[in-house]
Amino acid sequence: MELITDPVAWRDAMDAARRDGHQVGLVPTMGALHAGHLSLIRRARADCGVVAVTNYVNPLQFGAGEDLAAYPRDLEGDARAAESVGADVMFAPSVREMWPEEPRTTIHVGGISEVLDGASRPGHFDGVATIVAKLLALAGRCWAYFGEKDFQQLAVIRRLVDDLSLPVFVIGCPIVRTTEGLALSSRNAYLTPDELAVAPALYWSLLAGKRAVEDDGETDPAAVVDRIEEALGREPRFELDYAAVVDPATFDVPGRIETPVRLLVAARLGRARLIDNLPASLPGSAE
Ligand code: PAJ
Repeated sequence: MELITDPVAWRDAMDAARRDGHQVGLVPTMGALHAGHLSLIRRARADCGVVAVTNYVNPLQFGAGEDLAAYPRDLEGDARAAESVGADVMFAPSVREMWPEEPRTTIHVGGISEVLDGASRPGHFDGVATIVAKLLALAGRCWAYFGEKDFQQLAVIRRLVDDLSLPVFVIGCPIVRTTEGLALSSRNAYLTPDELAVAPALYWSLLAGKRAVEDDGETDPAAVVDRIEEALGREPRFELDYAAVVDPATFDVPGRIETPVRLLVAARLGRARLIDNLPASLPGSAE
């Protein structure tokens, strides 16, 4: 696997791959690769001729007081892991290489960026949208793979690509979980063994919400949110940030659940802020 740090060299490599007739599969990451990331790389490997992984901890998406300095970094381990599942090239620029000058351009995707994680982490999705727009601009025409783990991020990126007519086909990939149900996340590394043992309760709270819709036919979003909060409340170490039921594309809260919805939850557990989500649809309504 080739390692590239210079943005121009990376753009040239992507151009060369297309000239050679390959479909480029792009997997943007912030490194600290785990099985969730590797599932995206494997999927890109199955679909595309050339698989390009980006590895860049993006300061723009971290708020003041967030974990930018503590964020786990392991370029060598990442390179080995990405190569083992078939990546052809990894782009791992320094912040200076990425932005020789302070950027003065910000991409803001209205609406979707302002609720839930956007409300809890002001500026976060602007930072994500700005770096993803730049990564996609450098990569050129490609298929780009993102995890449903960050479901709101995926919705922001889909809207960004549509609004700007970027030559990118966005593919959302399923959440990889532990056998107990905890969604894999680089931030799980902040959990103590005790916290790790209770962390799957976040997923179980979503399952309680999903059962309310799918088994009990609950159509009131607020009642479903109550079910999620009640379930999570049984584990006192969690400090709830939000639980929500939204339209999966717009993130609007429906008046009544009629079409498929997404259930989302965010909570603090010790030093970590964890997020998770699940789809839910009424019996008989297709997902
Ligand atoms: P990062 O958190 O490193 O995640 C990179 C990609 O891996 C994202 O698309 C994320 O949704 C996906 N991912 C993480 N955990 C997953 C899991 N358990 N199952 C499936 N997919 C998972 O998301 C980012 O980086 C950044 O915001 C980025 C898009 C790279 C922009 O900086």
